[in-house]
Amino acid sequence: MVVLEIPTLTTERLRLRPLRRSDVEAYAALNADPEVLRCAYGETKPWDLGRSWRYLAFLWGHWVLGGCGTWAVEHRETGAFLGLVGFSEPEGWPGCELAWHLDRASWGHGYATEAARAALGYAFGELGKERIISLIHPDNHASLRVAEKVGEKLVRRIEHLGREMLCYGIERPSPAGA
Ligand SMILES: CC(C)(COP(=O)(O)OP(=O)(O)OC[C@H]1O[C@@H](n2cnc3c(N)ncnc32)[C@H](O)[C@@H]1OP(=O)(O)O)[C@@H](O)C(=O)NCCC(=O)NCCS
Repeated sequence: MVVLEIPTLTTERLRLRPLRRSDVEAYAALNADPEVLRCAYGETKPWDLGRSWRYLAFLWGHWVLGGCGTWAVEHRETGAFLGLVGFSEPEGWPGCELAWHLDRASWGHGYATEAARAALGYAFGELGKERIISLIHPDNHASLRVAEKVGEKLVRRIEHLGREMLCYGIERPSPAGA
């Protein structure tokens, strides 16, 4: 049996914790919102519960196969599930991708930036990553702004899964004084 130790990270307002079975319904509700889907995937047809279940299983399994993965983002004070942030790099991906995906009710409070900063710190520290990317559609202005706020820069335009995307990236910071 594989015993998986997924870390929990805390920030001022958020907890980044391992996904749970009980997150499926909240995640499915998020993926039933056409505006969230339009921003994230350029599609508006709501996902059914099964698709959200399968996607969470992929994200969970990524910790095993990829050595990193995605956390549930929870509001520390209320315990509410706000969405997801984390890493994926399936076979054929152009790099280790940091992505964010929050429930619409929680947009506009700086939560994606706060969660992404914590995840980046973990990637460059504990995971020893040299470089992290984010793949963002050019029309997804909020997401582009999050990438910029965490220090990512535009690297190139790429064709990714049939869509024109912007590849943002950030290198591991040099140690102070180096
Ligand atoms: C992208 C997303 C995670 C942002 O979450 P958030 O918690 O609202 O993000 P933050 O509050 O940390 O930062 C958003 C920034 O974008 C800005 N912004 C929001 N909408 C914008 C728009 N239409 N045009 C320009 N900037 C915009 C905000 O003002 C803020 O920047 P600021 O702090 O300089 O004012 C959220 O919108 C989301 O989950 N969208 C659907 C899923 C998705 O698109 N995921 C990314 C796939 S690449």
